[in-house]
Amino acid sequence: MQWKTKTLGEFIIENQAEFQYSTGELSKLINAIRLAAKVVNHEVNKAGLIDILGAAGETNVQGESQQKLDVLANEKFIQALENREIVCGIASEEETDFITVNSLDENHQNKYVVLIDPLDGSSNIDVNVSVGTIFSIYRRLTPSGSPVTLEDFLQPGINQVAAGYIIYGTSTMLVYTTGHGVNGFTLNPAIGTFYLSHPNMQFPDTGRIYSVNEGNYIHFPQGVKDYIKYCQMEEGDRPYTSRYIGSLVSDFHRNLIKGGIYMYPKSSLNSNGKLRLLYECNPMALLAEQAGGKASDGHRRILEIQPGELHERVPFFCGSPRMVEKAEEFMGRYP
Ligand code: AHG
Ligand code: MN
Ligand code: MN
Repeated sequence: MQWKTKTLGEFIIENQAEFQYSTGELSKLINAIRLAAKVVNHEVNKAGLIDILGAAGETNVQGESQQKLDVLANEKFIQALENREIVCGIASEEETDFITVNSLDENHQNKYVVLIDPLDGSSNIDVNVSVGTIFSIYRRLTPSGSPVTLEDFLQPGINQVAAGYIIYGTSTMLVYTTGHGVNGFTLNPAIGTFYLSHPNMQFPDTGRIYSVNEGNYIHFPQGVKDYIKYCQMEEGDRPYTSRYIGSLVSDFHRNLIKGGIYMYPKSSLNSNGKLRLLYECNPMALLAEQAGGKASDGHRRILEIQPGELHERVPFFCGSPRMVEKAEEFMGRYP
């Protein structure tokens, strides 16, 4: 089984002809992400030691000041992306405004913008449960030679040239797409190399897992309440199993492998739900579709939504295609 020994580096070279733009550009982009992933992986793995080495806001035994891990992950990703002569701008959950890359791009020749959720599921850090990083990559719309603008970031998800996530779980994996299917790579931490472990990942057509924060049930729209009751009903392959980690990356990853639906609906408290369109929902939606799944806001395809602002939120229903269609059918009864 030759694929088991294929490294991410080899895979990138073998498949770079598929990339619709210059072949070297794709390698640079994925290499930047790969490097950042390893650095953040190292930091996440040390998280349990923070009590010993000093909590956030304190100074540790080496005299280094400690930071919250999501702030640290943000810094590490930005550093790795800035130093590769490929990215002209970065937007992040942790930054109010987008960042213009100046260090190696004084003349604004770099062509790509990256949007990141540096640490997703960060409330899980303190309890040693899986977290992730999400990334989304576009080609800039404005011509190179001038500084990147907000317009370059506010593109519908369908324009993404690549997207993916890193899951820091029982093992660390990088899962990504460039629009030609979804492939998963597992890190061998002993030598710091990602190996192709999950080629051509596919959502099962349907599944038996539904993932939603049911504590918010009372606040959900009637269509969502009805669909949840449908999941719990005894009929055919139901009731389904409820699984919710509270980290989109981890919930998505499990559902991708086992079959299931992830939901973060709007509620009477949050009219657009919680998840961010640009660096949470769009990248997951591209991965979902590339893996034969679906992603919807309940009524519309996520990838076709025209964003209005950097941090905008959107209701999110994503996973096995038959399950997302069924959820949409229930919501469609209450237009
Ligand atoms: P983040 O840690 O980047 O703020 O994202 C957390 C998100 C998502 O990963 C997760 O599915 C959801 O918030 C959980 O929210 P609830 O605690 O409201 O269920
Ligand atoms: Mn998040
Ligand atoms: Mn986050």
